[in-house]
Amino acid sequence: MSGSKIKAPRGTFDVLGEQASARAMLEARARSILEGAGYERIETPVFEATELFARGVGESTDIVRKEMFTFQDAGGRSLTLRPEGTAPVCRAYVEHGMHKLRRPVKLWYLSSFFRHERAQAGRYRQFWQVGAEALGSEDPAVDAESIVLLSRLLAEMRVSDVRLRLSSLGSPESRSEYRERLQTYLRAHEDSLAEEVRARIDLNPLRAFDSEHPGTQRVMQGAPRLLEHLNSEDAEHFAQVRSLLDVVNIPYEVDSTLVRGLDYYTRTVFEFTSDALGAQSGVGGGGRYDRLVEQMGGPPTPGMGWAAGIERIMLAGDAPPAAPAPVELFVALEDPHADVRAVAFALLNEARSAGISARMDLGGRSLKGQLGHAAALGVRFVAIVGRNQTTLKDTQGGRQEPMASDAVVHAVLRAHRAV
Ligand code: HAM
Repeated sequence: MSGSKIKAPRGTFDVLGEQASARAMLEARARSILEGAGYERIETPVFEATELFARGVGESTDIVRKEMFTFQDAGGRSLTLRPEGTAPVCRAYVEHGMHKLRRPVKLWYLSSFFRHERAQAGRYRQFWQVGAEALGSEDPAVDAESIVLLSRLLAEMRVSDVRLRLSSLGSPESRSEYRERLQTYLRAHEDSLAEEVRARIDLNPLRAFDSEHPGTQRVMQGAPRLLEHLNSEDAEHFAQVRSLLDVVNIPYEVDSTLVRGLDYYTRTVFEFTSDALGAQSGVGGGGRYDRLVEQMGGPPTPGMGWAAGIERIMLAGDAPPAAPAPVELFVALEDPHADVRAVAFALLNEARSAGISARMDLGGRSLKGQLGHAAALGVRFVAIVGRNQTTLKDTQGGRQEPMASDAVVHAVLRAHRAV
């Protein structure tokens, strides 16, 4: 039965060919950097209770208000495709009693996430993030280490024109006094503000710093800055994070207008941008979330982490693609119509069991076609399986040797050992 073509939904894409191998390389790099620093892999479910994000990410954020893919299951429960990974990791931390483990508990993930955003280059509705979360320590060294690890990953992926913006949002205590000050200021300039900013003066006044509305931007130039109103402990914490980044020569710009699109942040916040990306310039970002685990019903547990967009790293990066693993043995049929397929198939599997990467023609090609395929793969050994005997060719030495087909694997291994 034929029908009209069905396309992938808007804002989604298939990963194949070079893209797939480039991603595999990125994953290998991320694993080596993060596991080398003591992070362990975690994967959480693709969907969670909607309540998790409403409570964790925050009711006033764009993500929760406008961008979640939410649905009801057959039992009437509200579920949501995960728009981010930090709230799920904190949920898992509490659910598995990880506070009993040695601190900080370091977890990393590489997963797909979902946000109903306007799709454009670098902004998708299903996208992938690599992320790292360290739970259980307030130490500024955790903040600095976490930032350095992302910086290293971006450098290894050769992401160009990278800039690091850094700020501190302080603890909720020091922030609440500042919030009032900012609200008073915003109300005094209400007439010049965007509708959306005005509507959020009570709920989330800090987001006004993120507005693209020209009138709002003019007002915000004169607005009081949170960085200038931190209490002494928060200011000291921020100073230590900065001095540790200085020690390892990571350049950054302190940007007191940096606010992130999620409500859970406390103290350190940061964002890496790349000028190579145009409008969607954020490659990765994160910060501290010292109250989130408690909000998820767990014991008071500070946290620090980040996530970076895989697609954005690839768009702005220039890492050379990984070379495919070489094929060592090609099993060819002398006559594709003869009944030697079973012998060849057994040889192929024997070679693979012995750890030799092997291929065989599966397309019914002539011997000439098969040898052409082997040459295109750059294979060193070709075993031509005939009715009466098998011939093993070593394309490097030009040697050609008749043998029983069950002697081939041994001969290939011996030749390898001789190298
Ligand atoms: P986020 O800034 O919302 O933070 O996302 C992190 C990164 O994900 C962005 O810098 C961007 O590269 C990528 N990203 C976000 N939305 C999209 C999209 N629609 N299409 C393509 N890429 C996108 C978080 O998600 C926090 N959970 C980060 C974090 C971890 N904070 C603490 N721990």
